[in-house]
Amino acid sequence: MKILVTGGLGFIGSHTVVELQNSGYEVVIIDNCSNSSENVLDGIAAITGRRPVFEKIDLREKEKVQDFFKRHSDVQGTIHFAASKAVGESVEKPLLYYENNLSTLIYILQELTAKKAQSFIFSSSCTVYGQASKMPITEDAPVQKAESPYGNTKQIGEEIIIDTCKVNQELQAISLRYFNPMGAHPSSEIGELPIGVPQNLVPFITQTGVGLRDQLSVFGGDYPTPDGTCIRDYIHVVDLAKAHVVALERLLEGKNTENYEVYNVGTGEGSSVLEVISSFERVSGLKLNYSIVDRRAGDIISAFADTKKANKILGWEAKSSLDQAMKSAWDWEQKIRN
Ligand code: UD1
Repeated sequence: MKILVTGGLGFIGSHTVVELQNSGYEVVIIDNCSNSSENVLDGIAAITGRRPVFEKIDLREKEKVQDFFKRHSDVQGTIHFAASKAVGESVEKPLLYYENNLSTLIYILQELTAKKAQSFIFSSSCTVYGQASKMPITEDAPVQKAESPYGNTKQIGEEIIIDTCKVNQELQAISLRYFNPMGAHPSSEIGELPIGVPQNLVPFITQTGVGLRDQLSVFGGDYPTPDGTCIRDYIHVVDLAKAHVVALERLLEGKNTENYEVYNVGTGEGSSVLEVISSFERVSGLKLNYSIVDRRAGDIISAFADTKKANKILGWEAKSSLDQAMKSAWDWEQKIRN
């Protein structure tokens, strides 16, 4: 069965391609390589023994999207990762984010709704909840006004799919709301490759560990949490990738009860920034150079998932501990710097 993975050379996309191929699916990747490299195909092939078909397409080019679906009329499922994801950049370049993240979604949905029985998985984010009033966060917690154009594209993206599903019963869709993905494949063949200075915590920690950065700034030590630092739900990217396969299979096998569903994808455990640093120190045996600085604008205090819905309905749960995820991130960082 042929599955399209857009953004399949990216961090979460590449790990999902591996899990799909390991489950026997034939994968076609579309990526414009704006934040990824064709070398990722070698990593995927090394792990799975199969090189997926790859087409370098910028999904903003509508004719190319149309042409792709004409040539691959046997695609039965689409997992749509391709998007820009830097929160700060989205504030600087809102139109780029709205164009990149929404026009591409629309062009794909236009093609899928012209076909019969299509399954579609959308990369959403826990950012849609903002600072939720109750922890852990359930899927029915209210969506709150986005802090950034990036966050807004995830909210609007979900709404576009909801409205489209209402009038297209043949389209079966699931939005997966990711908490904080981290780590790398245990083989160290693929992992996260941030361009420039990492904005996210874990790659900043591992780059500091290998000496690429002098010091980690911990943004805020005076939050109303047990140790004063923010709390997040860090999920191993391989667990997250597997959630995509089970969600897709639910749709392909017609097990879904609605033609649009939404699931949180996290571990259900909250970890503070200091706990993440301790995890790094445990698995690396190093002491991390860090200092506590001012809060970062736009950060929420705490976010961790209630995962009961995914556990019960998808039959999926995160298996890796924070230390296992950290170990994989650290192994990967050391491999790519040597
Ligand atoms: C961020 C985005 C979120 C997006 C996600 C994608 C913001 C406000 N949110 O989530 O919308 O879906 O990335 O991966 O940017 N931290 C430090 N020092 C650092 C970096 C981070 O202390 O150098 C802290 C942050 O304050 C936060 C935690 O580490 O408490 C996690 O930060 P990060 O990895 O950037 O993820 P989020 O902010 O949760």
